[in-house]
Amino acid sequence: MIEKKIAVLSGDGIGPEVTAQALKVLKTIEKKFGYRFSYHSADVGAIAIDHHGVPLPDSTLQICLDSDAVLFGSIGHPKYDNDPSAKVRPEQGLLALRKGLGLYANIRPVKIYPSLIGHAPLRPELLKDVDMVIYRELTGGIYFGEKGRTENDAYDHCTYSRVEVERIAKLAFQDAQRRRKKLTLVDKANVLETSRLWRAVVQDMAKNYADVTLDMMFVDNAAMQIIQYPAQFDVVLTENMFGDIISDEASVLSGSMGLLPSASIGAKTALFEPIHGSYPQAAGKNIANPMAAILSGALLLDSFQLSEAADLIRIAVNEAIKVGVVTVDLNKDKNYGCAEVGDWIVQFMEQ
Ligand code: IPM
Ligand code: MG
Repeated sequence: MIEKKIAVLSGDGIGPEVTAQALKVLKTIEKKFGYRFSYHSADVGAIAIDHHGVPLPDSTLQICLDSDAVLFGSIGHPKYDNDPSAKVRPEQGLLALRKGLGLYANIRPVKIYPSLIGHAPLRPELLKDVDMVIYRELTGGIYFGEKGRTENDAYDHCTYSRVEVERIAKLAFQDAQRRRKKLTLVDKANVLETSRLWRAVVQDMAKNYADVTLDMMFVDNAAMQIIQYPAQFDVVLTENMFGDIISDEASVLSGSMGLLPSASIGAKTALFEPIHGSYPQAAGKNIANPMAAILSGALLLDSFQLSEAADLIRIAVNEAIKVGVVTVDLNKDKNYGCAEVGDWIVQFMEQ
């Protein structure tokens, strides 16, 4: 009997609604395949600030460390976004969690659903054959460097070490070997010293992956190429902040950001989350797209090596899209609620 402990951090905004759908789906998998999962909920983000005064209580981190995987919703609240003087912010909870779990690699696959191709902002012919995965470094760079502020000055240091580059580059090279054997390093090596370190390290490592073609691209050019010729990308490797930006950009190629899951892996428990944020305007309205959260559940099952179960989830989501059981982001006229999409996917899997 396969038994696993899953920490559930549904967070803020639409996080709880979409995570509830992912949980329904995971519970269906348990029944269907005879696995036993236990779920351990904990607060993170704005809700944790409300309940405990801090965005990541020690108890939450401990629950994650004691679990086999973390299912994460989203965090953020508008009351902090427009207040630059707020000392405690929900996002600090996510950053502390990434650091605390050593989640140095954020993996964001960008996939095109043929039935949604008319929905994406690009012309269909540009989207044909788009299938890329972004490896974003997640515990270093400008996000975590020393910061400082006086009334009229501020700084955020960006630092990287060889080891930090090597460990994520290794994962990206290995994935490229399993895929179409192309790795694109995205950086700003014409300006930044940290980018020049990334280039040197990745070029050194490329010798050990002779079957992988290494391409290097400045981030401004990459931002343009993702729109102009997205099918050229296979595995994209990049540092923390560039990865934050280009993964949002690449996500809309699929037709909706509400479709894309991500995995964050590293030294300890891995974490799975939709790439969309907390979307506070939609919170509590049962209109959010639960598919990214549900597909994050599939990635979580992959990490347990339960790929048959993970594939069943992906098939069910595909089917829902195909028959048009989708939320308003994907169909303005004939749409379903967040919970109804979850219910449909559960029913499909049960058959
Ligand atoms: C993401 C988000 C986070 C980030 C925020 C919420 C801190 O945008 O996961 O991409 O910038 O990493
Ligand atoms: Mg982001």
